[in-house]
Amino acid sequence: KKGSYDHFMQKEIHEQPHSLTTTMRGRLKDGGVLLGGLKEHLKTIRRCRRVVFIGCGTSYNAALAARTFVEELTGIPVTMEVASDLLDRQGPIYREDTAVFVSQSGETADTLLALDYALENGALCVGITNTVGSTLSRKTHCGVHINAGCEIGVASTKAYTSQIVAMAMMALAIGSDQISTQARRNAIISGLTSLPSCVSEVLKLDAEMKDLASSLIDSESLLVFGRGYNYATALEGALKVKEVALMHSEGMLAGEMKHGPLALVDEILPIIVIATRDACFSKQQSVIQQLLSRKGRLIVMCSKGDASAVCSNGSCRVIEVPGVADCLQPVINIIPLQLLAYHLTVLRGFDVDQPRNLAKSVTTQ
Ligand code: UD1
Ligand code: F6R
Repeated sequence: KKGSYDHFMQKEIHEQPHSLTTTMRGRLKDGGVLLGGLKEHLKTIRRCRRVVFIGCGTSYNAALAARTFVEELTGIPVTMEVASDLLDRQGPIYREDTAVFVSQSGETADTLLALDYALENGALCVGITNTVGSTLSRKTHCGVHINAGCEIGVASTKAYTSQIVAMAMMALAIGSDQISTQARRNAIISGLTSLPSCVSEVLKLDAEMKDLASSLIDSESLLVFGRGYNYATALEGALKVKEVALMHSEGMLAGEMKHGPLALVDEILPIIVIATRDACFSKQQSVIQQLLSRKGRLIVMCSKGDASAVCSNGSCRVIEVPGVADCLQPVINIIPLQLLAYHLTVLRGFDVDQPRNLAKSVTTQ
């Protein structure tokens, strides 16, 4: 089943041009978006007081990546909840809320308990899942199957990118009655259409990521700084590195750097800074300058052709990625980090598809 690949995680990373195509198949129609699972509920969702995203691990990170464009395209406030934390706090959920549950397996205990809780509180419950017939799919009022195909590697890769694309289509569908954002929606739809070919292009960084992994093999820790659309990329990249390569890694909000993390910077600790083109670009340029002036060991991810704009003196290692519509850039940017986590794991001699202490589906609380 792995075909020419050594591991399922590797196969699933490289499958993404295809899995994203199947996520979108039949759903981008006549310049608009058609989600069969949501169309009867769009009016109710448009009237809701807020959207609450709920998930765990990678699925939570995918929702975080979607948050900004859901707010932008729908005008509805969005809050984020890690499922276990919502339950610990018994946080407020109201009848006027749309609770969106994101889960690859559709069987994660924490997420399902949070679903029961939101149902009891009368919210409209929407599922975003890869598994037809899963408990999540059956218990939610409506939802979207991401159709990424079966994911076997314990580390979630192709489901993450398909979840983001499914939520982009959801945001486009909810916001489709707004005239003021029509041009923006058209640009995102054309970005979605070109996404699979951009993903094929970014996958060509495989050898470069293997080389980068070999330079990090003995590091004790790895930081990843992102902001805006790519804060989620930083969290998700770090999660991949810690869960499969068994290396300490933290994703951090770059805007918080000077409020503590800056103290960690030295010539040894590798730091990945995500600085692709979007509204936060100039802020990331100044973060890079501040890190370089403290002799930080930087690896900068930037848009193609921006190497000298992000690091003029050549003192950082640069990863250049193809550009897409800013809100879809997280789909591209996570891929080099997935490849890095994969190669780091193989080079460090750990089990890629079955990381220590982890299970694919966490069905206990
Ligand atoms: C559906 C069919 C698809 C067919 C297409 C043709 C299924 C599973 N999907 O896809 O095979 O090609 O019509 O028009 O038969 N749902 C939830 N919670 C979730 C996910 C989904 O309640 O977490 C519900 C949806 O609201 C919907 C149904 O499950 O009623 C199917 O969802 P989805 O597969 O996303 O719908 P379509 O894309 O229309
Ligand atoms: C990370 C990973 C986990 C899952 C989490 C939620 O690679 O796989 O963090 O994302 O356990 O699982 P689902 O999405 O099945 O609810």
